[in-house]
Amino acid sequence: MDESKVYNLSKLGVEASNDTELSLIFEILRDSWHPKDNPDGYISMGVAENALLHDRLAEYVQKNVTFSPIDLTYGAGGMGSMKLRKAVARFLTRHLKPFGRIEMDHVTMTNGCSSAVEHCSYLLSDPGDYFLLGQPYYGTFMMDVHFRPKTEILPVPFGDVDPISIEAVNRYEEVLNQARANGKKVKGMILCHPHNPLGRCYPREALIEFMKLCQKHRIHFISDEIYALSVWPNKEDLSPPAVPFESATSIDLTGLIDPHLVHVIWGISKDFGANGLRVGAVISQGNPAFVKALQTVALYSYLSSVTDNVVTTLLEDDTFTDKYIEDNQRRLSEVYSHTVKILKAHKIEYKPGSNAGFFLWMNLGKAYMDRHPDRMDQDISQIIMTALLDRKVFLANGLAFGSERSGWFRLIFSQPEDLLDEGLKRVIAAIEA
Ligand SMILES: Cc1ncc(COP(=O)(O)O)c(C=O)c1O
Repeated sequence: MDESKVYNLSKLGVEASNDTELSLIFEILRDSWHPKDNPDGYISMGVAENALLHDRLAEYVQKNVTFSPIDLTYGAGGMGSMKLRKAVARFLTRHLKPFGRIEMDHVTMTNGCSSAVEHCSYLLSDPGDYFLLGQPYYGTFMMDVHFRPKTEILPVPFGDVDPISIEAVNRYEEVLNQARANGKKVKGMILCHPHNPLGRCYPREALIEFMKLCQKHRIHFISDEIYALSVWPNKEDLSPPAVPFESATSIDLTGLIDPHLVHVIWGISKDFGANGLRVGAVISQGNPAFVKALQTVALYSYLSSVTDNVVTTLLEDDTFTDKYIEDNQRRLSEVYSHTVKILKAHKIEYKPGSNAGFFLWMNLGKAYMDRHPDRMDQDISQIIMTALLDRKVFLANGLAFGSERSGWFRLIFSQPEDLLDEGLKRVIAAIEA
């Protein structure tokens, strides 16, 4: 049936009404498991929420934030209040150790990092242009970059090359050259640093090589650093060795890349476990025209003035945020250890060596095949996904994250232990069924 005729939607409207990936996620969020209130609900281990310190942040906001008449106004416009942009600039200058100070004028606030990525796509490329994206990737980048801006993604496969290594840089150039030879216009690349879903940080030398590559081909270098402060000691895996996080802003760009090509994204969704406040930022230290353009589209990514006020209070409080970040990192390390021990006990393979973010990249396909060698010829990812949903547990299917192999899934472990244990019990039941 041609729905655009029946319901009179635009082409984009029809495309949006047919989306299944996001509607599944929202369905699961609407029916979330709770031991007392909704024991039959879904356990979501597929959406990157960090619930470990929710109580502490909620209590802080209740005690420290006051609501005043200014919160009822448009504030200072779509880019965020000057107070908040100053607070973000100061906070990130303290934590990202930028080579050059991050100033208020470099910062544009958005209602979450998804909007920030979408703005980069809208304003740095034209419909039909391409952005390079290494595999596996954070699945929603596809939507952010493409759905409304209509920029295309050029996935970069790695085969046996480590995607988070200096050797990976050549693969990007091969894909870029091939695309250009086919008449495609490549306008930028997006790095997720630390990486979602692999949970690792790019070495400084690799960042430098990526920048040189972008300069050579005059394309934008976008570093999504939404997990910058969620870096923690891995006490379980011996290799690959952990690489400490160093922000793209910490690199002296002189002789490497024109500063107008470098942009960083950060927000509070992950490092403060505050997805629901909807706060992100684009930091562009050398491209005033881009910042001016952001001011225009920011009309559609306005933070509420209440949220602006909450986040300003939070980011100005060094004592609270320093302790919060430290405790968050310790808790992430603990729950990672807890989860990995369970996976090992059930002989479920995972990619070792994470030291950032909240993810485990697991080979459930192998775990399933080990238990059901008779079912070799089937679409393994789909079978497992169905089995998981039947047991009311949700994981992200690696194929939606550009996995080069079937059977890989991303598990989010930043949950209280009772929920984690119940979720893992269901995952194990699903592969054993
Ligand atoms: C790498 C990355 N970028 C952006 C986002 C979206 O963040 P926000 O909730 O701030 O829109 C996510 C959320 O999972 C993410 O993992």
